[in-house]
Amino acid sequence: MEAFRPLGERRTLIRGSGPLVETVHGEVAWACGVFGGEVVREGSDDAGYDLVLDVVADGAWGDEGFAYGREGGRTTVTASGQRGLLYGLFHVVRLGGTAFQEDRPREGHRPAVALRMLDHWDNVDVHPVMGQVERGYAGGSLFWRDGRARGELERVRAYGRLLAACGINAVCVNNVNVHASEARLLTDRLGEVADLAAMLRPYGVRTHLSVTFAAPVVLGGLPTADPLDEAVRQWWSGAAARVYAAIPDFGGFVVKADSEGQPGPFTYGRSHADGANMLASALAPHGGTVHWRAFVYDHRQDWRDRSTDRARAAYDHFAPLDGEFADNAVLQVKHGPMDFQVREPVSPVFGAMPRTRLAVEVQATQEYTGQQRHVCWLGPMWSEVLRFRPAGEEGSAVGELAGGGLVAVSNVGDDPYWTGHPLAQANLYTFGRLAWQPSADPLRVLDEWIALTFPSAPKRLTEGLRPLLRGSWRTYEKYTAPLGVGFMVQPGHHYGPSVDGYEYSPWGTYHFADRDGIGVDRSAATGTGYAAQYAAPWAGVYESPATCPDELLLFFHHVPYAHVLHSGKTVIQHVYDTRFEGVEEVEEARRVWASLADLVGAERHARVAERYEEQVRGAREWRDQVNSYFLRKSGVPDARGRPIW
Ligand code: GCU
Repeated sequence: MEAFRPLGERRTLIRGSGPLVETVHGEVAWACGVFGGEVVREGSDDAGYDLVLDVVADGAWGDEGFAYGREGGRTTVTASGQRGLLYGLFHVVRLGGTAFQEDRPREGHRPAVALRMLDHWDNVDVHPVMGQVERGYAGGSLFWRDGRARGELERVRAYGRLLAACGINAVCVNNVNVHASEARLLTDRLGEVADLAAMLRPYGVRTHLSVTFAAPVVLGGLPTADPLDEAVRQWWSGAAARVYAAIPDFGGFVVKADSEGQPGPFTYGRSHADGANMLASALAPHGGTVHWRAFVYDHRQDWRDRSTDRARAAYDHFAPLDGEFADNAVLQVKHGPMDFQVREPVSPVFGAMPRTRLAVEVQATQEYTGQQRHVCWLGPMWSEVLRFRPAGEEGSAVGELAGGGLVAVSNVGDDPYWTGHPLAQANLYTFGRLAWQPSADPLRVLDEWIALTFPSAPKRLTEGLRPLLRGSWRTYEKYTAPLGVGFMVQPGHHYGPSVDGYEYSPWGTYHFADRDGIGVDRSAATGTGYAAQYAAPWAGVYESPATCPDELLLFFHHVPYAHVLHSGKTVIQHVYDTRFEGVEEVEEARRVWASLADLVGAERHARVAERYEEQVRGAREWRDQVNSYFLRKSGVPDARGRPIW
């Protein structure tokens, strides 16, 4: 084996042509400028190079895959397409120095999921209630400011680079709630979208657009948006053709229809398959896809109506339509049946639509998980969802059933740290890596993120940071709503506790706590029947409190406070204990972070420290409100006599 050359003297050979190969070349040239070394284009002889990045158009690795190996003192990346070369380069970057030291036989890498998308809930105008970014906790939008395109295109390009490094290949640039200005991105403001697409394209990121189902009426002046009306169909075909003329690699449309007030096919007595297929046929000649969201439920429910269960809605609306959707229509399903709570069961839709392309939608933006003021690394939750097997151990995992892609609501804004809370970047990175390989071990991904974010960090830093992030989701769960019951948040902005905040509201998110017990009976025998939307074995597991996992007990059952969990504790004592533990864990995390001050840049350290102050305050608030509420409702004192108000 030849001795390896040290950093600063390495020589790289790049073979291949095309815009993404130029990107790869630009990246390596930049690195040589910073660290030293040399990059050469083309050349038939590999001898004398430390790294050879090669596009061999033999199709062996697909469009995005690559082979990586190291033999005889040379590291090689071979891809069949330009995108693969870019991902191969980032693989080398992830490996760092070891990519040039340890010999390894060639190994193949390909994404398990073809579409790995971030949906930005960014508004063009500042919305009077939701602001520039709906549920955004990282400052303003990277794309839009106060009614206009922001125009900071280099920043958008840097964002494309960040996404490619995480393995993400698609971005939807506007909110699923499409207001008047945003609607026009499809037509007279399309040029603004094309400018963004041009910046994202060199990093292999395709651009998608959220559109309003009412576009033929509000933009086209037609009297109807009926999906079966010929003039409507023609209008959409024309609109799609104009989009592709401006953005040849456009990804497609994202649609929130008949959901929380957005227009949809129900107005015309048509089904969601009719609506989705109409858009799919407009996109089909250009190779585009419609992402049709399954988040359809009655948001004007009467809280007195115990027969309606919001959790049932996606399955009830969509499962009967299985097999009716066009090939280029993807049904985008939230991972749980409600709305991105810290704990929900996996949506039963994933097991119920084998003849439909499904995408899993998760929420990287931490709407219900601390709004990027609290540390809550969601890797383990997403991994549980992706590994869940709707038909039991013998069946496929959700990650394998998601042929239509993995989608996260973005947690990125114009904040200098991208994500507001610097540690929330771990969610962005983890999402991208799990989308590439849903079966990946999230803890390994976390270690990767730590190593990349804090290069050459001493052990004390990595070992301090790791447990803070690893346990943060469960810690958050401990001090907020217990045992899968969900919500209990302040209405509207959803930050901080309000146990009865949504209890008498029209949104269908109730916990039904009374003096005797708490939880929602969703059993088939005595409740809403939601449990029966699952196949075996899950329908049986969830049907009975005896088999239902503790962490989901109150999602599926209404039980007395004295009910004994599998853990051996009563429900009420679990409520008290976990809230006290949750606060203690956050206090400990704050202490550990403070102890790392000498190892982290001062600004970054201060930003996180300040957020830990808020997290400690918030966790205590949650603890005290939830505990006091349940002490007052139940009259059962804490077995350990701790202060409850
Ligand atoms: C949640 C969220 C809304 C969002 C909606 C959606 O309800 O609070 O802001 O529009 O999800 O996913 O469409």
